[in-house]
Amino acid sequence: MKVSKICCIGAGYVGGPTMAVIADKNRDIQVTVVDINKDRIAAWNDEDLNNLPVFEPGLDEVVGRARGKNLFFSTEVDKAIDEAHMIFISVNTPTKTYGKGKNMAADLKYVELCARQIASVAKTDKIVVEKSTLPVRTAEAIKTILYNTGNGVNFQILSNPEFLAEGTAITDLEHADRVLIGGDETPEGQEAIQALVDIYAAWLPKERILTTNVWSSELSKLTANAFLAQRVSSINAISELCEATGANVNEVARAIGMDSRIGPKFLKASVGFGGSCFQKDILNLVYIAKSLGLEAVADYWEQVIIMNDHQKIRFAEKIVSTLFNTVSGKKIAFLGWAFKKDTNDTRESAAIYVADRLIDEQAQICVFDPKVSSKQMIDDLNYLQSRDRKSNQNHLNVVGDPYEACKDAHAIAILTEWDEFKEYDWQRIYENMNKPAFVFDGRMILDGEKMKEIGFKYYVIGSEY
Ligand code: NAD
Ligand code: UDX
Repeated sequence: MKVSKICCIGAGYVGGPTMAVIADKNRDIQVTVVDINKDRIAAWNDEDLNNLPVFEPGLDEVVGRARGKNLFFSTEVDKAIDEAHMIFISVNTPTKTYGKGKNMAADLKYVELCARQIASVAKTDKIVVEKSTLPVRTAEAIKTILYNTGNGVNFQILSNPEFLAEGTAITDLEHADRVLIGGDETPEGQEAIQALVDIYAAWLPKERILTTNVWSSELSKLTANAFLAQRVSSINAISELCEATGANVNEVARAIGMDSRIGPKFLKASVGFGGSCFQKDILNLVYIAKSLGLEAVADYWEQVIIMNDHQKIRFAEKIVSTLFNTVSGKKIAFLGWAFKKDTNDTRESAAIYVADRLIDEQAQICVFDPKVSSKQMIDDLNYLQSRDRKSNQNHLNVVGDPYEACKDAHAIAILTEWDEFKEYDWQRIYENMNKPAFVFDGRMILDGEKMKEIGFKYYVIGSEY
């Protein structure tokens, strides 16, 4: 079966870039990305490609090539579902904030709504692709909804989890290590799998396109994120040990990473991992294990989150103890708010938690981030519900210039590894700060020797802290 029209429900960090690349590489397929968020769709359609709602290096070029030709962004969800042969569900699946499984299980209400909408609109057979990250066996629930509320048409459900990382989404999509497609073992299931394989085969070698059963595919996505996050928590645990012993975590990471069984990637100690996926997906895995009565499995994976929370709070507390045990009324500059460089996404960013802890101590935080808006930062803090909005606003100031952020500050905390931070005139920054002037490098990006020469008291995670 040759697919000529695709619909993707959800124009977020995954739906937007993924569909842009699929459209760019399959010029004979019409791809329509739909969303209920009108502002987001308007931003995807903005003539100025600098205003796309998702910041990703290279995304503007891909969208610029395909948009209006075979790539469309729209709020007309029903129309796009009706016309498509293949429908990707790429909506958000956040951690539940209420009821059973609160703060652990994935909230599947948006996915269920999509399934119900597809069922009510579809008049011809469809292939429905789970692109969102979902708990294992969700396809079963989607199938039940589609077949019990639909118009008698046939559906095939595929699982096709996304492995892109933000900040490198376009490269990750264009040069994917692998694409994973899970489907039924029936002839119809295999035919649906082949239709999706053909789409990816337009630019990826066949041996990188893996096919499995649906459940293996769903579980592999949660497992991949759990393994990656575990590496960060493991090296962060060692970073604390390094600080206490005089070892240097960079040197340890290099030494262990050269063992080909361990490998060099994802061994960078940091102020803690953030992002929309790691914490949510591990909590989801923990919840599934608990639901199945597998307490030891649940405890094992939960420790990855516990270590990460510890790392964020430990960083904040180091700032307080170093600044003579009080930051009350002191200006602390934050460089970076995004959860990693090259993205405007702030979900679960370590910066939010560090700011929250310092505001508890009555610090005055002044933030500069190259891509994150001030409204987003205040919303992030308010979301924690630690204090009222007004107090948050009184303690968090956002500026558009890094030198202004650091002026008269007692300390600078580096929370995101934006490349431009390395190029700043650090001498000038030093001269305009309160003395002694402290730098807490939560991302190991600055040249410590140079900072000390200038006169800074320089602290970096994982060595002589
Ligand atoms: P997102 O919040 O950026 O985007 C989701 C979009 O879906 C939103 O714009 C929302 O308005 C829209 N939406 C929700 N319900 C809808 C409905 N019923 N109809 C139409 N639109 C609807 O989320 P995201 O970061 O793109 O993540 C999407 C999924 O992909 C999640 O399951 C996530 O776990 C997974 N994932 C994310 C990443 C990542 O790096 N962000 C990577 C891999 C997988
Ligand atoms: C992650 C997975 O990598 C990706 O495959 C999946 O599809 C979605 O979740 P993402 O969250 O976008 O991607 O970014 P990632 O590069 O994995 O970084 C996550 C967090 O870990 C960031 O806060 C990053 O700074 C931190 N990290 C990463 C470290 O602290 N050290 C490292 O060595 C690597």
